[in-house]
Amino acid sequence: MTFRQARWDEPAIWDLAPSAAAGPPIAIPGVPERLRRKAAVRWPELSEPEVVRHFTRLSQMNFGIDTSTYPLGSCTMKYNPKVSEALARRRGAANLHPDQPEETVQGALEMLWRLERLLSKVTGLPEVSLQPAAGAHGEYAALLLVRSYFRDRGESGTRAEVLLPDTAHGTNPASAAMAGYATREIPSKNGCVDVAALKAALSERTACFMLTNPNTAGLFESDILEIAEAVHASGAMLYYDGANLNAILGITHPGRMGFDVAHLNLHKTFATPHGGGGPGAGVLAAGEKLAPYLPVPRIVKKGRKFHLDYDRPKSIGKIRRGYASFGLDLRAYAFALTHGEEGLRHVARRSVLNSNYAGAKLGKFLPRPFRPLVKHEFVLSGAPLKERGVRTIDLAKRLLDEGVHAPTVYFPTLVEESIMVELPETESRRDIDRFIAAFERAVTDSPENLHAAPRNLAVRRIDEVRAAREPLLSWKDLRGASAQS
Ligand SMILES: Cc1ncc(COP(=O)(O)O)c(C=O)c1O
Repeated sequence: MTFRQARWDEPAIWDLAPSAAAGPPIAIPGVPERLRRKAAVRWPELSEPEVVRHFTRLSQMNFGIDTSTYPLGSCTMKYNPKVSEALARRRGAANLHPDQPEETVQGALEMLWRLERLLSKVTGLPEVSLQPAAGAHGEYAALLLVRSYFRDRGESGTRAEVLLPDTAHGTNPASAAMAGYATREIPSKNGCVDVAALKAALSERTACFMLTNPNTAGLFESDILEIAEAVHASGAMLYYDGANLNAILGITHPGRMGFDVAHLNLHKTFATPHGGGGPGAGVLAAGEKLAPYLPVPRIVKKGRKFHLDYDRPKSIGKIRRGYASFGLDLRAYAFALTHGEEGLRHVARRSVLNSNYAGAKLGKFLPRPFRPLVKHEFVLSGAPLKERGVRTIDLAKRLLDEGVHAPTVYFPTLVEESIMVELPETESRRDIDRFIAAFERAVTDSPENLHAAPRNLAVRRIDEVRAAREPLLSWKDLRGASAQS
């Protein structure tokens, strides 16, 4: 299979046609003279096919989940159903204003309230807030709850440390540090928390242990009850990073595992758009000890009416503009209702099946450092490629030429040259087989081809560090750059 994307140097819309002068500027009464245009705007004169081709070409320069498989471990890129999109775009939903008076948004508040109740059942934790704008924002907010709880107990001075396993997502230690905690890493044993090391590290200094379950190696922490008991015995709180909840949805939940507080990523588990760190929907769920500290306002139901309640004296306060990511919450609610309880359990079973199927096939090409049966994602090591002078990054770039997105690479960091693959429930067997065939072609390709990849994309191999440090953010910058190259 060959795959070819549009290139940056193909004619762009601004090169297609000279601009044509429109008529004289229209004088709008009330606009001060100094703000009025002195000359008419010069619009390009283009035919419909030219415009359609321009925008189609631009869309082909991007890679999205609507185009092909997106096997990004930890980040869970699943297909977003179009019915949820259609709902979120309806006028009644899309035109709401966050500052509208309560009585004019009763339907919206009811939907959010119902979603909170649903997520309380899903997490097994009694109270839910939809305020966090992304997973990392939920982590940070959860740690603020923990901090307030210990402050009220007069322990904020002593409980100054957050423990994290070495499989933790990078946002976990970052959130802990932002919340004012020192962080300490707990080693893993065969991909799971080394419980003896955890017990040795727990003390009266520990405020919280942050854990993802299944963890970022795709493994279920089967010692979770022992872990919860040890954390609570030390007086600390147990925090659940719910980014991987799709693997256990409807089968078990953080409440049953002994967690005190959790964040969920609706943009992962409940199939809503996921935009590179945001905007998303983070969701914070808390057990009885931490619930009084949840952000305000809280949605409450009084009789048949819904209200935004600010009267929560222990609350950490407001953590965002508005109340929630309304459009994402509506999409997530639609996703949950269209699946129903049994359907959500099917999401978990199917994502686990998909990843185990692909893991068994890809394990023939590269070693899998952990046990063969995983939950919703699995890790390969690209270390043997080094014998051929090839690295994981080369394989990732070569996969792009096959028209699939690359998996997550170099995370988790405890595996050398790691490649982390996730195939959520929205991937069909046909698409997974296509991905496996693409992976086989890529991994068996010559070192020369792997080093030269990608050949067929709009942009070839880029200097990623420079791209991150000196981004080109406007088309004028891009034109300047392509003229120079
Ligand atoms: C395990 C885990 N935790 C937390 C996050 C942070 O979530 P967000 O990107 O929504 O901030 C991610 C993101 O990929 C993740 O994989």
